[in-house]
Amino acid sequence: MTTTAHGARILVVDDERPLLAALVTALESMGYEAIGELKQSDGLSRILSWQPDAAIFDLNMPGMNGVELTAKALEIMPDLPVILLTGFGTIDSSVQAMRAGAFDYLTKPFDLNTVDLTLHKALDHHEQKRRFRLLAEATGRVGEFEGIVGQSPAIKKVLDSVQAVADTASTVLITGESGTGKEVIAHAVHTVGARREKPFITVDCATIPDTLIESELFGHAKGAFTGAHKDRAGYVEAAADGTVFLDEIGEIPLGMQKKLLRFLEEKTFVRVGETRRRTAQVRIVAATNRDLVSEVQAGRFREDLYYRLKVIEICIPPLRERAEDIPLLLEWYLTRLNRKLNRKISGISPAAIKLLCSYQWPGNVRELVNLLEHVMTFHNPETLDVKHLPGGLQTLTAALPSRTFSELKEQVLEEVGRSYFQSLLNHFQGNITKVADYAGVNRRHIHRLLHAWGIDPSSFRNN
Ligand SMILES: Nc1ncnc2c1ncn2[C@@H]1O[C@H](COP(=O)(O)OP(=O)(O)OP(=O)(O)O)[C@@H](O)[C@H]1O
Ligand SMILES: [Mg+2]
Repeated sequence: MTTTAHGARILVVDDERPLLAALVTALESMGYEAIGELKQSDGLSRILSWQPDAAIFDLNMPGMNGVELTAKALEIMPDLPVILLTGFGTIDSSVQAMRAGAFDYLTKPFDLNTVDLTLHKALDHHEQKRRFRLLAEATGRVGEFEGIVGQSPAIKKVLDSVQAVADTASTVLITGESGTGKEVIAHAVHTVGARREKPFITVDCATIPDTLIESELFGHAKGAFTGAHKDRAGYVEAAADGTVFLDEIGEIPLGMQKKLLRFLEEKTFVRVGETRRRTAQVRIVAATNRDLVSEVQAGRFREDLYYRLKVIEICIPPLRERAEDIPLLLEWYLTRLNRKLNRKISGISPAAIKLLCSYQWPGNVRELVNLLEHVMTFHNPETLDVKHLPGGLQTLTAALPSRTFSELKEQVLEEVGRSYFQSLLNHFQGNITKVADYAGVNRRHIHRLLHAWGIDPSSFRNN
């Protein structure tokens, strides 16, 4: 049994006094806190004033019946799990009850064990919903950025950029390692902005043959090449005022890059086999996990196109650099995978979360999702723990650098600082005041550093 049940507040509304009293007493003896109301209106005001964790309503009541009461209750407290008590043979009303948003129903006569069990289920469900809501609030942008989880400063910066460019027509370049969420962010650029009702077309530049990419993008005239049986518009026209997402733009053949550059600059293009210039007002979002600078150096990517693209660049940092997003992502995907795989895993142990947070995630968020799905396919425990995680994970994590960032800073400071101060001491012949003036650091601080590094300033005098 979960801990949520103990002391949970249960509101009961039933117009039959003896039944109401019996149920309240029974609930109290099971460890719940219970309040009974005979009138529906009193029940509703209790919801406001007492904030119950779950409610039990009788279905058959004069005036407002249980279904109507449920609907009203959910208006006040949308997360409230409601259990309806129905008489024998009122299947129709139970269907109605579920439609009205009740969590479950119990057919009379019921035994107290069943009531307890159903309440536990309801409270678990309630707790999950509450956690989900908190999680959504933590991302801070619920409806606006659907499906994007994270609260690290790094991801917030990414989302701020998305917000800033969404309503412009500017070309956007999204960079980041594989699996960091480039496609997710490209979508967000489209859906957050005014183009959200217009088409979003993804063009995977890595999989379209070089010979076809121009006609796919810009269209072609009938007879332009073998197989071109009729005039055809390309993606930039098909997307109208929407967005074309050029995924893996680093893969675009050199010949095509010049035409693309012209399109980005003038918004004009020519269909293959035509001479007439056309215009299209589509917004281009491009993404790559390649390092375009080295592609330019290697002569595989036009420098002018690179500079044109990088005017507005959204760079998504690798997951290991925003580890504070890992617990949120785990919780988010745990909930989704519970549904997908029909699991009821309630959480992940702190030790497992710690391990997962220190792992390097070379495949970033995609790897995290895949790993969780793998683990949840083969295990179905109450709580996921370290023992359910792949063994390799622990070895990989053990290969981590053994230092914290501040230890690293100390070491770099000593390595660089030592020769820096030695040459200053040499120059000023051990005169700390002059060294301090020159370095812009106060004297006491220099003394402390030199002492820590075992350097004796007097040995530089008369040198
Ligand atoms: N911030 C996020 N919140 C929730 N899910 C995310 C987030 N970022 C990425 N994902 C998920 O991770 C997976 C990989 O994301 P996506 O396909 O956008 O990555 P990518 O950077 O385009 O990868 P690649 O370079 O391999 O194409 C998807 O399932 C996506 O839904
Ligand atoms: Mg991608």
